[in-house]
Amino acid sequence: MTAQKTKTTYVCQSCGAIHSKWQGQCSSCLEWNTIAEEITIKKTKQKISVNISKPILLEQISNENFNRLIFSNAEVNRVLGGGVVPGTLILVAGEPGIGKSTLLLELALTINNTPVLYISGEESAQQIKLRADRLGINNPLCHIYCETNIENIINQANNLKPGFLIIDSIQTIYTSAIESATGSVGQVRESTALLQQYAKQHNIPVFIIGHVTKEGYIAGPKLLEHMVDTVLYFEGERHYGYRILRAIKNRFGSTAELGIFEMTHKGLREVLDPSELFITHSEEKTSGVSIASVIEGLRPFMIEVQALSGTAAYGQPQRSATGFDNRRLSMLLAVLEKKVGFKLGQKDIFLNITGGVKIDDPAMDLSVIASIASSYVDIPIDKQICFAGEIGLSGEIRPVYKLEQRISEAEKMQYKKIVISKYNVKQTELNPEFTRDKIEIITSSKITDVFKILFG
Ligand code: TYD
Ligand code: MG
Repeated sequence: MTAQKTKTTYVCQSCGAIHSKWQGQCSSCLEWNTIAEEITIKKTKQKISVNISKPILLEQISNENFNRLIFSNAEVNRVLGGGVVPGTLILVAGEPGIGKSTLLLELALTINNTPVLYISGEESAQQIKLRADRLGINNPLCHIYCETNIENIINQANNLKPGFLIIDSIQTIYTSAIESATGSVGQVRESTALLQQYAKQHNIPVFIIGHVTKEGYIAGPKLLEHMVDTVLYFEGERHYGYRILRAIKNRFGSTAELGIFEMTHKGLREVLDPSELFITHSEEKTSGVSIASVIEGLRPFMIEVQALSGTAAYGQPQRSATGFDNRRLSMLLAVLEKKVGFKLGQKDIFLNITGGVKIDDPAMDLSVIASIASSYVDIPIDKQICFAGEIGLSGEIRPVYKLEQRISEAEKMQYKKIVISKYNVKQTELNPEFTRDKIEIITSSKITDVFKILFG
């Protein structure tokens, strides 16, 4: 019998720092009221086994373990870097209700010829069955196990030997080895460590779902990110159907790729051609709308930028942006005021990127500015024109990266003209194979010149 000893520690629920006594503010991450008492039952040390592994030559290491498991979901494969490497521990993080359970259940149901174990600590087996029925897919080898004790889970996994394991969610899982509350940093850390060990021992991928709180942290422990091999964020605006899956950390691939989905009444639909999704195809000519050619991850696509400028009725004018950085918007408005002479001081400005997707590409600046100007002067922009340019503080249009890809995408989507920075031209001329017979390239160095072309 192993003797047991209890130990009380005070653990910050935000950063995981351990303190010897309770205090109001964590001295490590400076958060207030995050320190909670945790009781750990320490099993007395067992005999230390002699480690018999030896250093090996790099060139002798085989990479046969890298036979990736390929899902039928192309977007997930893409984000993971071409399927998942066995033995990987993957954290899928996102806000509640965004679709994490749906995404992973889809993976579990579409894999062939291998048993899958889906652990649910949140929903009943019936609820999962209902969801599966809704998705309309069935996998005779998919096992559902509603359990929250990690030792039981690993026991069952050892019996079943699944091809991959899903934990929904890590915040509901606990280990009997320590006594702190379910969902506390200690529990999450210990359970994750056991899952990591399981994944490596059996060489199977383990997906764990983690909820993110409003502040953007994975509820409680950010430290989970350090423990896993891959961190995927599943995000989107709840009121829109679009969802983006991106890798924040990936030990077995790049973090530049992203997967795009649409939440439909029958689950998540993969969006292979995002350009079609992010543009409203209305025939009507309205002011304040323009199209940007952007790159997110490695993929170019076209996205619609809508702006509305109106006289502020009461007091402080409002500036509000959906899917675009508010500070960047303020900077662009200052440029419009100072360099173009627009009087925006008493104007409400609203900016909306279609679908509520948050795009972090400076090349969108030119389209944002064009949309605001179009709304301000109330002249619609020709629907055949699109934009790709960053705006500098002096109102100059700055070059953007991967211009050829952007132009090709615009050409593919049948735009007739694209406005780019004059300084980008050298870049495109460098490549003689680059053809652009279907799209006219308008180069400019100043936004005032662009406005002359657009609004006369
Ligand atoms: P869910 O996967 O439960 O989110 P999470 O696990 O991240 O908390 O899905 C949440 C939402 O998705 C839910 O409000 C209903 C919606 N949904 C659909 O629109 N279509 C579907 O086919 C399914 C299964 C869910
Ligand atoms: Mg869920």
